[in-house]
Amino acid sequence: MKYGVFFAFVALAAASCGNNLRIGDFSVSPIPENITLTEGKPFEFGGRVVIQSPNELGTIAGLLASDLEEALGKKPEISVKKGNIILATDSAMPKEGYRIECGKDALKITGGSPAGVLYGARTVYKALPSPGEGRAALPAAVVEDSPEYPYRGFMVDVARHFFSVDYLKELIDIMSLHGINVFHWHLTDDQGWRVPVPGYPKLTEVGSFRPGTIVAPGSDEYDTIPVVGFYTEDEMKEIVRYAADRQITVIPEIDLPGHMLAALASYPELGCTGGPYEVPQRFGVFEDVLCPGKDATIAFAKAVLEEVMDIFPSEYIHLGGDECPKERWEECPDCQARIKALGIKAIKGKSKEEQLQTWFMDQMRSTLKARGRKMMGWDEVLEGTPDKDIVVCAWTSPSAVSRSASEGHPTIVCPIQHYYFSNPRFNKLQGRESISRVYDFNMVPDGLTLEQAGNIIGSQACIWTEWVADSTKMEWEMLPRLAAVAESQWGCPKDLDAFLPRLKRMTELYDRRGWNWKEDIAEAWK
Ligand code: ACM
Ligand code: ZN
Repeated sequence: MKYGVFFAFVALAAASCGNNLRIGDFSVSPIPENITLTEGKPFEFGGRVVIQSPNELGTIAGLLASDLEEALGKKPEISVKKGNIILATDSAMPKEGYRIECGKDALKITGGSPAGVLYGARTVYKALPSPGEGRAALPAAVVEDSPEYPYRGFMVDVARHFFSVDYLKELIDIMSLHGINVFHWHLTDDQGWRVPVPGYPKLTEVGSFRPGTIVAPGSDEYDTIPVVGFYTEDEMKEIVRYAADRQITVIPEIDLPGHMLAALASYPELGCTGGPYEVPQRFGVFEDVLCPGKDATIAFAKAVLEEVMDIFPSEYIHLGGDECPKERWEECPDCQARIKALGIKAIKGKSKEEQLQTWFMDQMRSTLKARGRKMMGWDEVLEGTPDKDIVVCAWTSPSAVSRSASEGHPTIVCPIQHYYFSNPRFNKLQGRESISRVYDFNMVPDGLTLEQAGNIIGSQACIWTEWVADSTKMEWEMLPRLAAVAESQWGCPKDLDAFLPRLKRMTELYDRRGWNWKEDIAEAWK
């Protein structure tokens, strides 16, 4: 665990105020590991500002220029030769780390990689004073920082409700502001299929459409607002590029073998009963799932994954594996014949059908492996006998985090009780309680050995969109709690009272960018 923010010299800010300078503050969120204020005058943005950047950091220079324009009203120039904001890399530094050296004549941002430079540039942006009268400046300082966890994710479900490419780019901008480096894109579910797959045209003709939606949990009423849409291959590649420019990897999810009603409505022959099936207008866990007893199902799922791997270059592909009831498989002659042919027997704590799921997931995992990819799944994959290199998203409880990490899986922390921002129960919490439920949650459960704790590679917040039909609600759920998750991912020391002023500064940035946020949280700093 990292800790410590050091202040060496603090006198000059007051001395400069008479000059009508607005001096910023490097105590941003996530809080950098070391902030050392140094002697000397601040760096002023009043005159000519030129970003000096080698060509390979051109994209990051462009992002910094746009950020500075947003904050200061004037876009800096970018030059490969000479400037007073200097971007550089130093491979001796931690890969995602950065160092900011800020003085009167220059502001230098050095990163261990382009990602590090970007995080340094974001810290500079967030450290700037709020817009106002007078010249903006940053104090003379050295700031050093690097994130603790390599996987810093955020998941968005576009199956229950559909979100446009342009809006997904905005969500990626929000993620980027928080130092997130993985966009987990939940692309398929019972209520909608969003990926065209060659040879299976009905997936988008049938599966990407539903005529209405239940109006509230437990209601008998349905609206008649169609939910429809899918992404073309080019659009998905565009999202991958847009995210990569911001040092974010897109990990697609095809949720197998449960949560498949949209696919079954399109191709009923892939289910145990043969259907007919419908794209459901209500939510929950459905008994109709893919039939792993049929060769056609295996061929279908493999074709989907081949297409997904063509589009997405990520090392990991998420294959779901959650909430797959076994009732149909228990009754299905094809599933039972498969179990027999494979010689599967019930073993202690694992039914034949649970092991059939492991077999099915393994078929898919080898499809990924053949192209050098790895599988990610929800923690139900632990119910079978999964290979150790499967990355597990532990969602059902903090004890699932313990189980996954102690069984040796690279583990991503995302328990529903803390990191599902769409959870209606936890959305009802207000003010300090709402933020502390996320912020104070310890990613590493008690009782793990050091080695087991080392299997925790990061965390992610998740937004499931059953009850999120538009951007206003999406942002309301996402913000500002994402900043709380981001501090945990970054490894910042936990101190809620110290965090709240930083969070308030974040909400000022959200306001400037027109992003909605959960307004009751402001109670916490009143
Ligand atoms: C999940 O929330 N079913 C992964
Ligand atoms: Zn079956």
